[in-house]
Amino acid sequence: MKIIGMLISLSFFCFAQEPEYQWISIGTDAVESLNQKSFPEAKLFAGNQMASVMRVKKNQIKAISHLMHEKYERCAGFMAHKTEEEALEAASFNSEKNRAGSAIFANYSIDMASTVEPMIQEVKETNIRNTIIKLSNFENRYYLNQTGVESQNWVKDLWSKYLAARSDAKVEFFQHKNWPQPSVVATIQGEQIPNEVIVIGGHADSINRRSSRAPGADDNASGIATISEVIRVLAETGYRPSRTIKFIGYAAEEVGLLGSQEIAKDFKLNNKEVIGVMQLDMTNHKGTHDKDIVMMTDFTNKPQNQFLGQVIDTYLKIPWGYSQCGYGCSDHASWYRQGYPASMPFESKMEDINHKIHTNQDTIDASGGTAEHATKFAKMATAYMVELAK
Ligand code: BES
Ligand code: ZN
Repeated sequence: MKIIGMLISLSFFCFAQEPEYQWISIGTDAVESLNQKSFPEAKLFAGNQMASVMRVKKNQIKAISHLMHEKYERCAGFMAHKTEEEALEAASFNSEKNRAGSAIFANYSIDMASTVEPMIQEVKETNIRNTIIKLSNFENRYYLNQTGVESQNWVKDLWSKYLAARSDAKVEFFQHKNWPQPSVVATIQGEQIPNEVIVIGGHADSINRRSSRAPGADDNASGIATISEVIRVLAETGYRPSRTIKFIGYAAEEVGLLGSQEIAKDFKLNNKEVIGVMQLDMTNHKGTHDKDIVMMTDFTNKPQNQFLGQVIDTYLKIPWGYSQCGYGCSDHASWYRQGYPASMPFESKMEDINHKIHTNQDTIDASGGTAEHATKFAKMATAYMVELAK
């Protein structure tokens, strides 16, 4: 603490000509306090469940120190560093948990505009709309029914068609032991760092607690259609990621996240390095008038949620906010429980939720008849993928 204090004051008084920024490593739980309001120049660069790396203005250090002391009752709640590398090292080698490799770092810088911009311009509302309509035309996509198997065949065929010309891609079923519906997994092999994986997923099943007809247009044909359009754009533009990307249509979410639980456990068991998970569950019903996208704060990763907010500000410039489910409401919770950084960007605040879900009235017409809202999610997911897989 004393040494850090001395270093900080040294840099204040002796090196007045030095760059005005400094790097800090800080407990992730404290990141939200260094928000835009109180520290407008503070920028999050990397993070996991335990520690994060930020760049701050040198003249903010004192105030941050004060805050950490007051709010978190920590003496040295953060460490200051001269370079990003030093900060990353401090953050990732400071704890047993990190050394064991269970907490993986992601780079949250945003600097891929020349790749992202042309890709998001390629996102087409009509494609998303047509996929939603096709999926909701199945009687239901229930995990125990033959129609739930057929709908997954259809998703696998669609993704295979999009990726047909790509030798770096494959589309497979993940078969589950206890029910017939498989999950669908499309993999784009990373060119430089293939062992690090980004997962973009959503559940492909549907349910109606009263009858057999379960169109599930919003819950969750919208998420699968959003993901399908990201895959199409990726293939169409010839995008090749450095890291590996996996798109997953989970089976059996509606009955307790069964499909994603098996998959997340399987990844953990095989020591897969998943650096980011995005869950797309309900993307096409605009329920909140002044927010287009809200990040669910429970069972999700704070630094990644903030990163997603910055991605939206940079590439979409639409209003976003926060909300919460109050329980493990979708497949992101399965990944979160295995210790992976997951986010769930959602279509509305919880208080404005689409009440037609899980009924025979969850149709695209009940969400305005177009896929306008879901289009924003496809753009966001594309930008997230490119920025994280670089
Ligand atoms: N898409 C919903 C989750 C949801 C609903 C999120 C409303 C936000 C607002 C999901 O398919 C679902 O129905 N989840 C179940 C829980 C799950 C553990 C079976 C639910 O919310 O009842
Ligand atoms: Zn549901």
